[in-house]
Amino acid sequence: MICKNLTISTEGHLLFAGQDVASLLREYGSPLYLFDEDRIRENCRTYYNAMKEAFGEKALPLYASKAASFKEIYRIVNSEQLGIDVVSCGEIYTAKAAGFDLSKTYFHSNNKTDEDIAFAIENGIGYFVADNEEELYAVDRIAAEKGICQKILLRLTPGIDTHTYEAINTGKVDSKFGSAIETGQAEAITKLALKLPHLQLMGFHCHVGSQVFDSDTFFRSAEIMLNFMAEMAKKHHYIAEELDLGGGYGVRYTESDPTIDIAANIHQVADCVKTKCAALGLPLPAIRLEPGRSIVADAGLTLYTVGTIKQIPGYKNYVSVDGGMTDNPRFALYNAPYTVVAAEKMNEETDFHCSVVGRCCESGDIIQENVALPSTIKRGDVLAVLTTGAYNFSMASNYNRIPRLPVVMLKEGTARLVVKRETLDDLIRNDI
Ligand code: LLP
Repeated sequence: MICKNLTISTEGHLLFAGQDVASLLREYGSPLYLFDEDRIRENCRTYYNAMKEAFGEKALPLYASKAASFKEIYRIVNSEQLGIDVVSCGEIYTAKAAGFDLSKTYFHSNNKTDEDIAFAIENGIGYFVADNEEELYAVDRIAAEKGICQKILLRLTPGIDTHTYEAINTGKVDSKFGSAIETGQAEAITKLALKLPHLQLMGFHCHVGSQVFDSDTFFRSAEIMLNFMAEMAKKHHYIAEELDLGGGYGVRYTESDPTIDIAANIHQVADCVKTKCAALGLPLPAIRLEPGRSIVADAGLTLYTVGTIKQIPGYKNYVSVDGGMTDNPRFALYNAPYTVVAAEKMNEETDFHCSVVGRCCESGDIIQENVALPSTIKRGDVLAVLTTGAYNFSMASNYNRIPRLPVVMLKEGTARLVVKRETLDDLIRNDI
C-alpha cells in the first residue's frame, strides 16, 4: 500500500491506523473523512527533528494550515511544537480557538485587507509574510495605530518553475505572489521595509511550488535567496535573521509516485545552505520550512458508499458515490491522481474499469478516472479514496447545498469525532 498506516486484514478489509474503515463508516455515517493522529505526529516529528539536527536549534517547521484547518489539527501541531502558516482571519481564528500560540504564526496572503491586518495584530500574530509595497504601508500604518512594531518577512519570487501543475506553481517571476528578485522589486521592497518605523524586518520568504519531488528545486531556490541576502548585506548593511524556504514536498497519491526521504532531503538542503552561507560570508539564518501536504495528506482518507453503477456498453462504466467534488475538488481542478479501493474487497481481483464520480449536478464531478475495482462492486459497498488528508476538507464546498463531511480522528485503536457533520439546518443558518 502507498503508506504504512494502510494494511489489509485476513478477511480482505482495509485497515487504517489498524482500524477497519468500513466499520467506522457504519458507526459515523457516510461519507466520512478519517485522520490518523499518530501519522500526523510522525510527519511533524520528521520535520522538527531533521530541521533541528540539520540547521540547529533556531530552525522551525511551520505547518501550512491551508492543507487542513480545524481545531484538532492545530492542537496536535501545537503539542508537536511546530509553528504555523495561516492565510486568512478564518485560519487565525480557528488556531486561536484551539489555543495555538499565535507568536509562532506566520500570516501569508497576497492581498490582506486593512481589516485582516488589524485583526491579526490585535490577536498578537507573530509575523506577517508581507507580499508587496502596499501591504508594507498598510501594516506599518495599522501597527503605528496599535502602538507596536510588527515583525515581518518579505515574500520574494526567486523565479523558479517547478514543473508541477500550473495552478499550484507559485515561485515564477510572473506569479501573483511576492516581489520578484529579477525585476528589482525585491530590493525595492526590502529598502522600504527597512525604512518604515513600525516594521521589524526579520528576513525573507519564498515558496516555489507544491507536490515537488526533486531536491534540486529547494537547492536552487535556497541559493537564489542567499545570493539576494548577501547582496542586501553588501548594499544596505542588512543581515537577515530568518530565511523561510516555503513548503512543497510531494506525497504519494498512487503507487507510481516516487517516495521522498524528507529527513535526508532536509539534511542535503542544510549542507547546501551552510556551504553557500560560508562562501558568501553570511551567518546561518534561522531556517523555516512550511510543509502542508506532507504533514496531513497520508494521515487522511475519505470513505464513501457506492450508489448507482452505470455501464454504457462500448463506452464506459460509472460508479457513483455519495460525495464528490464538494468534499474533494482536486480531480475537477487539477486532474489530481488518487488511489481508490473497495474497502471490504481488498483481496478480490480488480477487473472492473470505471470512473468514480460524485453526486453533484455537474459532469466534471469526478473523483477519479480509470479506476479498477472488483467486478462484484455493488450498491452499498464502501469505497475508500486514499491520501485525502491535504486540501480536501479545507477545499470542500456546499455546492448543490450538500452538507460538508465530518472528521473522525483515530489514535491507538480509538476513534473520536473532531468535526461534526454539517446538517441541513447548518446550510440555511445564514439565510435570512
Ligand atoms: N507555503 C506557502 C506560501 C504556500 O503557498 C503553500 C501552498 C505551502 C506553504 C504549503 O505547500 P505544501 O507543502 O502543502 O505543498 N490546493 C492545491 C495546493 C495549493 C498549495 C498552495 N500553497 C492542491 O490541492 O494541490
